[in-house]
Amino acid sequence: MKTYLRILSYAKPYGRFVPVYLLYALLSIIFGLINFTLLKPLFDVIFEQVDPASLEQFAEKPEFSFSISYFTNLFNYNFLQVAEIYGKMGTLFYVCIIIVVSVFLSNLFTYLSGVVLAKVRATVIKRMRMDVFGKVSRLHIGYFSNERKGDLMSKMTNDVQEVENTIVQSLRVVFREPATIILYFSVLFMMSVKLTLFTILIIPIAGGIIGGITKRLKKRAIQSQQSLGRIVNILDETLGGMRVIKAFNAENFMSKKFDRETDYYAGVNVNMARKNELASPISQFLGVTVVAGILVYGGSLVLSGASELSASDFITYIIIFTQVLNPAKEISRAASSIQRGIASAERIFEVVDTPSQISSPSQPASLNDFKQSIQFKDVSFAYQEKKVLKNIRFSLEKGKTIALVGPSGGGKSTLADLVPRFYDPTEGQILLDGTDLRNFDLKDLRSLMGIVTQESILFNDSVFNNIAFGLDNITEKQVIEAAKIANAHEFIVKMENGYQTSIGERGSKLSGGQRQRLSIARAVLKNPPILILDEATSALDSESELLVQEALTKLMSNRTTLVIAHRLSTIQHADEILVIEQGEIVQRGTHSELMKSEGLYQKLSSIQSV
Ligand SMILES: Nc1ncnc2c1ncn2[C@@H]1O[C@H](COP(=O)(O)OP(=O)(O)O)[C@@H](O)[C@H]1O
Ligand SMILES: [Mg+2]
Repeated sequence: MKTYLRILSYAKPYGRFVPVYLLYALLSIIFGLINFTLLKPLFDVIFEQVDPASLEQFAEKPEFSFSISYFTNLFNYNFLQVAEIYGKMGTLFYVCIIIVVSVFLSNLFTYLSGVVLAKVRATVIKRMRMDVFGKVSRLHIGYFSNERKGDLMSKMTNDVQEVENTIVQSLRVVFREPATIILYFSVLFMMSVKLTLFTILIIPIAGGIIGGITKRLKKRAIQSQQSLGRIVNILDETLGGMRVIKAFNAENFMSKKFDRETDYYAGVNVNMARKNELASPISQFLGVTVVAGILVYGGSLVLSGASELSASDFITYIIIFTQVLNPAKEISRAASSIQRGIASAERIFEVVDTPSQISSPSQPASLNDFKQSIQFKDVSFAYQEKKVLKNIRFSLEKGKTIALVGPSGGGKSTLADLVPRFYDPTEGQILLDGTDLRNFDLKDLRSLMGIVTQESILFNDSVFNNIAFGLDNITEKQVIEAAKIANAHEFIVKMENGYQTSIGERGSKLSGGQRQRLSIARAVLKNPPILILDEATSALDSESELLVQEALTKLMSNRTTLVIAHRLSTIQHADEILVIEQGEIVQRGTHSELMKSEGLYQKLSSIQSV
């Protein structure tokens, strides 16, 4: 229930539509009801049951009042007038015309209420998607480990869709059908209290049965949505890793994996459908059974002449009653689909409610410029239990370059990730110009930094937009200038549409070196005082490595740089080199100092020079 209301709260600025909707819905129900109540006089005319004596009381035009009796009296008054002037055929016409008019009005209002509802529905879904998207982009990097990616994508697509299909669809049922049932039942009560009491007995029984069916649906629905998340994940991995899959003849392996998951998914869904599909037939069966019961009971009352009901009353009664069955069926169907929707909504809200572990303080210290240094003070860090960095201490002065080297898995990338606050240290502090990073606004902090990593992160967009990424008001001239510095201009102008060429998903239409030079151009354009380079050339062949290295050297000039290199030759000029092994700084100094002392650096150097 809480979840349901929370979903509806996404419609908030549209709250004023609710009364409008209710009004339309109510009018459409009332006009619909009028149709059926008119059947009685219709039958009376046809079966020649009109008793002139009983109509005498309607010879006077009734006083206006806002009540049902005024309208019935008014109807009867006109009915009598018409009967006197035009005879039976006339009254038949009279009744039919009113029926046609009220059917028209009833459907008109159904249409109008449907339109209002569609607006609400579209708004709820749009705002929900935006909310999840916005929330997800604010979450800390650590949240996006790979196993969650498929699940997240599935939440943002399938689950939102599920909410749209079930919950929002059910709005109609939730608001409208109960009103229909209540109104119709009031009329039924007016017609015959005895019969109606008899029918009402059956409702709790039907409700109980359907409630029992839908009870365990939610758990299955959650299993089903989770499975769908894993399916999306496998798809994502397969499509992304197609080359490797083919090269290793692993199609079968992936296909088996996919088969297992889809099999499970199918199983859960069949299981769910077994219950889901039961709700509607059961309520239909119960409904017809009740009608049969009424026929027997009510029919006997009519036949024995023991009740106030005439034959035409009775037929009308049954017809009106059958009209209640449909809304009742709708409600039972909605009850089961709402369970699925709620399960999806809860999965979505789980993401929305995850607090970001990295956030800006409420009163950030001002940060306009980088002036002196970045200092690591006894910094330790652990992703989970195991420490990945231990007591790291160093200071990067403005304008200098510090290089990190060491065996893979030593913790270099992790260390670099702490500077833009992708993660926070578990112990110790990182100071920027003497102030803890955590005191700055994240945006301010990150705007001081440019990052180039081993995998260039590009987006399915034009070259221009990939370079100008995240920056506003950038001119073509600026982009070209940056591309020139990054040694990228030449190959870009050779592309079919130059700077407006689309580079494909993740830059798939470019070579590794070209992608990397675009990333560098992006960093050049941003022109940040602090640079973080994490093995920016390690994925490249030696020819493009040269071009990229040259671009990097231009980028680094006059900046403060933290560079991670796999190739020692590229960092010989660094002001200080930190050799990191198993999360610790095991050696430090300049290239020439380190070459003189025996140790890891010497060893690495001798391996590479072979
Ligand atoms: N997101 C992560 N979650 C858990 N452990 C991680 C994560 N990223 C890296 N690690 C672990 O942290 C250690 C250091 O990794 P990393 O900083 O990438 O090393 P390097 O860049 O020096 O090769 C490794 O043991 C790695 O397995
Ligand atoms: Mg690394």
